Amino acid sequence: MATRLTTSAGSPVADNQNSLTAGPRGPVLLQDWQLIEKLAHQNRERIPERVVHAKGWGAHGTLTITGDISKYTRAKVLQPGAKTDMIIRFSTVAGELGAADAERDVRGFAMKFYTEEGNWDLVGNNTPVFFVRDPLKFPDFIRTQKRHPKTNLRSPTAMWDFWSLSPESLHQVTILMSDRGLPVAPMFMNGYGSHTYSLWNDSGERFWVKFHFKSMQGHRHHTNAEAQSVVGKTRESYQEALFGTIEKGSFPKWKMQVQVMPEADAEKTAYNPFDLTKVWPHKDYPPIDVGTLELNRNADNYFAEIEQLAFSPSNFVPGIGASPDKMLQGRIFAYADAHRYRLGTHYEALPVNAPRCPVAHYHKDGAMRFFRNDTGNPDAYYEPNSFGGPAQDPSVAEPPLKMSGDAARWDHREGNDDFVQPRALFLLFDAGQKARLFSNIADAMAGVPAGIVERQCRLFDQVHPDYGAGVRAAIAAKAGAKAAAD
Ligand code: NDP
Ligand code: HEM
Repeated sequence: MATRLTTSAGSPVADNQNSLTAGPRGPVLLQDWQLIEKLAHQNRERIPERVVHAKGWGAHGTLTITGDISKYTRAKVLQPGAKTDMIIRFSTVAGELGAADAERDVRGFAMKFYTEEGNWDLVGNNTPVFFVRDPLKFPDFIRTQKRHPKTNLRSPTAMWDFWSLSPESLHQVTILMSDRGLPVAPMFMNGYGSHTYSLWNDSGERFWVKFHFKSMQGHRHHTNAEAQSVVGKTRESYQEALFGTIEKGSFPKWKMQVQVMPEADAEKTAYNPFDLTKVWPHKDYPPIDVGTLELNRNADNYFAEIEQLAFSPSNFVPGIGASPDKMLQGRIFAYADAHRYRLGTHYEALPVNAPRCPVAHYHKDGAMRFFRNDTGNPDAYYEPNSFGGPAQDPSVAEPPLKMSGDAARWDHREGNDDFVQPRALFLLFDAGQKARLFSNIADAMAGVPAGIVERQCRLFDQVHPDYGAGVRAAIAAKAGAKAAAD
């Protein structure tokens, strides 16, 4: 026999097809509490979408450590042989909750590892760098990606106006407009922690680190034309591909690698190793194999497990820490703040966000406090106390982070070369990749005022003369083709 239907208060329901009405033709009676409960719940089914990265796809998985980086870190999750349950959410940055999947955009690559020492979140992208290097610029940048306040349309003018006035964006813009700016599905792209983080060991030594996740499915990308036809057929190509592959037991995998820099090297590199618009060249800091990430289980309920996921770069575990990267500090504030608004004060008690290790703190009450007294002792509700409440553990203290300098609004553009690394990337591209780069940029610039286009092309010239010339030629060719067609 089927489970008996009840109201949310547990009362058995006799009729779930017909409202309570005065006579067969109505009207409905206000005392139909069953109808009222149903309509009221429906009115509350939506929560705010993420302010960025609203459209996403996720799955559960496992991180297995096969390498040995124990001399750099005491983190249990990174010790040889460790196997840790995790959950991942991929996303696009700009699109809203219902946006089409196959759009040219940077992809989010956010991971939560449920370690025995608390949750470690690595909230990265499919690119190793970012558009800006100062968190004060992030809200402005995002404005240019979202809708224009009057037209309510996306604005290529705003995007290229901002980028052409922000040369630090050149590296990321080049990746975005290259083949890797439009992967076929989440399995076919790399993930990067992007920021410089730190690892620290039991002897109190600190090392700077970059995290990389290399797709073991290889890279696959759509051209703009292919993506147009995909979106014409389905807006959900990523969800279909990721959910489908896991459902049929073909589990996507990534090779986890780190680049490690001795603490003192940071003073010597030609570039600022804490600048999020830069990579560390592999020849200087070769990637070290650490392990394998495998996605092996779909969520049973998308809303509960993927939409309610709350990642934060502030979720560290002993052995892994921050770095002086200014963007990272901005993010360490922003995410937990966003979750308290989007999901509520106790978002970390939701099953998908809850650590899988004992939790013992003195935070109290607030809306929806449905879990037990977390100190495990009703008399130990402040600290210090004489009732055996949770106490600090100095053995997990992070080594001191050296800092110096006068507090000022330092010009982040001074002394930073914005052209060397985009040039290295441009020179990696073969002729076909360059042609597609030029063509993608020309497509993305359609309708942008000539002055802004020229300002951006002058930046491309400084990366490489062939870059500026190639974009100008692609724009001219598209304008010629359009004139011939009109
Ligand atoms: P390397 O030749 O050692 O590394 C090149 C890297 O570029 C590889 O990791 C490769 O990724 C990646 N790559 C190849 N094609 C593209 C593309 N179309 N878009 C983005 N990345 C691509 O050189 P360097 O370490 O000196 O780096 C040179 C440039 O490569 C950098 O300026 C940066 O733009 C880019 N890059 C560098 C990374 C790094 O951590 N050093 C990471 C990613 C990109 P894969 O291994 O997957 O083929
Ligand atoms: C999502 C802020 C830079 C990757 C978000 C969210 C906020 C935010 C508020 C929504 C969180 C939520 O509601 O759950 C910022 C700020 C930044 C910044 C202030 C700069 C100062 C970056 C960078 C990366 C990144 C540099 C990658 C390297 C992501 C990802 C998500 C996200 C992947 C989606 C996480 C998920 O799947 O839930 N960001 N962000 N962000 N951000 Fe950022």
